[in-house]
Amino acid sequence: MPQIPSPAEAEKLYADLIDKPGALLPILHRIQDRLGYVPEEYVPVVARSLNLSRAEVHGVISFYHEFRTTPPGKHVVKICQAEACQAMGVEALTEHAERRLGTRMHGTSPDRKYTLEPVYCLGNCACTPAMMVDGRLVGRVTPERFDQIIEELQA
Ligand code: FES
Repeated sequence: MPQIPSPAEAEKLYADLIDKPGALLPILHRIQDRLGYVPEEYVPVVARSLNLSRAEVHGVISFYHEFRTTPPGKHVVKICQAEACQAMGVEALTEHAERRLGTRMHGTSPDRKYTLEPVYCLGNCACTPAMMVDGRLVGRVTPERFDQIIEELQA
């Protein structure tokens, strides 16, 4: 996990974005890309940078599923929960993943190896159920294929 810059230094992470139109989302994405999540103590810093209220920044963070407010595990597993994947049995796959990884959806395993998150369409609807593991898209995921992918991560 990268060292988290102090709130006083946070602005350096995104100083080039502050004057761009609609800067809030790109700034939050930049912070999460660099740190893995958006620390709570950054909210007032971002709000001040953009002349917004803390509530406005909080509102955006909580509206978009992709933003995390706590550090993720070593590997991030996202399983698509949207319609096409639902039709192809993602519910059973999700239950399998929760058992296999030792965490519920939106959680991190006690050993901090895996974070399990929902995602709503990965643009891979022709190859459902779909998931993303550390940014790598995988389609037609069966429970067996899921286990294989997790074993590859451990190798
Ligand atoms: S609905 Fe799952 S990839 Fe599109």
